Amino acid sequence: VQNFILGVPFNLGAAVTGTEFAIDYLFGEYPELKNVIELIEPVREDENLFDKRLKFVNSVISTSKVLAERTRELVTSGYRPIVVGGDHSISLGSISGLLAEKRDAGVIWIDAHADMNTADTSPSGNIHGMVLAALMGHGDAKLTRLNKGNFLDPKKVLLFGARDLDPGELNFIEKYGVNLITHDEVLEMGLVAALEKAKEMLQVEELHISFDLDSVDPNFAPGVSVPVNDGFEKEEILEIFSILFENYKITSVDIVELNPLTDKDGKSVDFVKELIDFLDGVGR
Ligand code: ARG
Ligand code: MN
Ligand code: MN
Ligand code: MN
Repeated sequence: VQNFILGVPFNLGAAVTGTEFAIDYLFGEYPELKNVIELIEPVREDENLFDKRLKFVNSVISTSKVLAERTRELVTSGYRPIVVGGDHSISLGSISGLLAEKRDAGVIWIDAHADMNTADTSPSGNIHGMVLAALMGHGDAKLTRLNKGNFLDPKKVLLFGARDLDPGELNFIEKYGVNLITHDEVLEMGLVAALEKAKEMLQVEELHISFDLDSVDPNFAPGVSVPVNDGFEKEEILEIFSILFENYKITSVDIVELNPLTDKDGKSVDFVKELIDFLDGVGR
């Protein structure tokens, strides 16, 4: 399977500016980068700026629709989309597109956060913190509609490395039985054992990897929009990817939340470049 990189310079799912520049920092300025990747231009819609529960919802949805359609096409044509963000709200598009073609695929969400709030439980109103709930069919209808009823089964979702969960998210996880291996549990068990447990929990053949850069320790990857102390080391992320490629058929990958404006010495940009190169070498 050949990788196909889609770049989505989007930031309206987060409160912070910066992720919209990730593609420029990773691939250079516009004319040349089109040789290496395909750009999904963010769609900017009129918004109700008084809506503090679902910020920039119209732009999130319109952009995700374009991304979903393109992702579906690529998967249908036998490619493996590597969707580079952009904030995590774009996963609404990539995963909806995947599920339109592969109804039984599972999702591993490698993230400090769960992104399982709804408009009612969100502390921020930022949609990047709600997408995974929406993909399972929960939350505001504007968000859940996009997926056209191909909702993710909570049993086919695994949160891996979470270390900052909101009360509403903990409720959600318990109520719907979402698989969870926290960052603390990974530290206790060791990485290899944790991924062995993941394999028991996630009984799927095909898997989408949604990788949020804030799963990495901010000492190694400070360039994110919502940093949380501790987290994985860079080598651990590469090891996680390697093992997942051995254990599953990887249909598609998101790499999101790189924020070059909060980065230090280009550390995070360099790491994401390394990860993209690494993906070029695995799973063919
Ligand atoms: N839990 C917080 C919220 O819902 C932070 C979410 C951060 N999400 C992310 N993709 N970085 O606002
Ligand atoms: Mn996230
Ligand atoms: Mn996160
Ligand atoms: Mn640490």
